Amino acid sequence: MKRYRIAAIPGDGIGGEVISAGVEVLTALAKRQGNFTLAFDHFDWGGAYYKKHGRMMPANGRDLIKSHDAILFGSAGHPDIPDHITLWGLRLAICQPFDQYANVRPTRVLPGITSPLRHVKNRELDWVIVRENSEGEYAGVGGRVHQGSPLEAATDVAMFTRAGVERIMRFAFKLARSRPRKLLTVVTKSNAQRHAMVMWDEIAVEIAGEFPDVTWDKMLVDAMTMRMVMKPQTIDTVVATNLHADILSDLAAALAGSLGIAPTANLNPERTFPSMFEPIHGSAFDIMGRGIANPIGTFWSAVMLLEHLGEQPAADRLMQAIERVTADARFHTPDLGGRARTIDVTAAVIDALHGANS
Ligand code: IPM
Ligand code: MG
Repeated sequence: MKRYRIAAIPGDGIGGEVISAGVEVLTALAKRQGNFTLAFDHFDWGGAYYKKHGRMMPANGRDLIKSHDAILFGSAGHPDIPDHITLWGLRLAICQPFDQYANVRPTRVLPGITSPLRHVKNRELDWVIVRENSEGEYAGVGGRVHQGSPLEAATDVAMFTRAGVERIMRFAFKLARSRPRKLLTVVTKSNAQRHAMVMWDEIAVEIAGEFPDVTWDKMLVDAMTMRMVMKPQTIDTVVATNLHADILSDLAAALAGSLGIAPTANLNPERTFPSMFEPIHGSAFDIMGRGIANPIGTFWSAVMLLEHLGEQPAADRLMQAIERVTADARFHTPDLGGRARTIDVTAAVIDALHGANS
């Protein structure tokens, strides 16, 4: 019997609601599978913690979770606290030191969900966006001088390292190779950003040489937004910088029907530290506490968590259960135009786990 320890960090806003739904579903699933157990440790880090302690997580926070098998994260963001503090104090304070350099964002139109793209059939939109998650525009390099004076100046330097670009390219080519179409699009902006993005392109060509069986092309990020809307069926796996992929993945989530569905894995592929799994959506304070948050993004993130642990049959069972539930409009939350509540969707997925045949 395998025993996994999972660190659960609900964070702020609807984070608490979706993570408790996720824990409930994962617990039911582990019981159903019978070949592994999941023990959850909860950490109350985030905005409320900040208000009490002046920081988003304790100074030794990373030590408390570095030996867990995975992290399930809700969302960070608080109406009274500047966004850069909540982000850098919690999510990035875990992702970057734990070297979770590959952020993986699958996008599919699930059964029962309608894409806002009129002519797209469900199977025609099946993408995985790989986001560089350790450097680039989010490197945190920069500064401000002369604050409060008319001479004030500020810089944010996008920092790209050869090692960082090589490893994300290799990761993306490998992932593309593992998918049926073996198709990768490398997103760039080397026409305007003439240093780092040019190196990015060069490294793509070098790494492509290691993957002769993968078909790949290069696309400027602005043109990529058009292609995602106009020719979604021509896309399979995508690799992009931290900021480019941040923007593209919101577009992808919207095209797939709702931000409430989209999952993320922040992976440390070498497993030197735990990886972290979270829904793409934010803390959504406008609907917090109303019991209507869509938990599907968290459930799908839990599928990715199980895949990372190597529990593929459990992951498959959960994904089947999710798809069975999304197919039924009675279980659509308001973000999908329905009237279901978080607990209805959670109960339906748990029921479907027992019915799913795998
Ligand atoms: C995401 C989010 C975050 C990001 C925000 C909350 C800072 O948009 O995970 O895509 O930009 O990384
Ligand atoms: Mg984003």
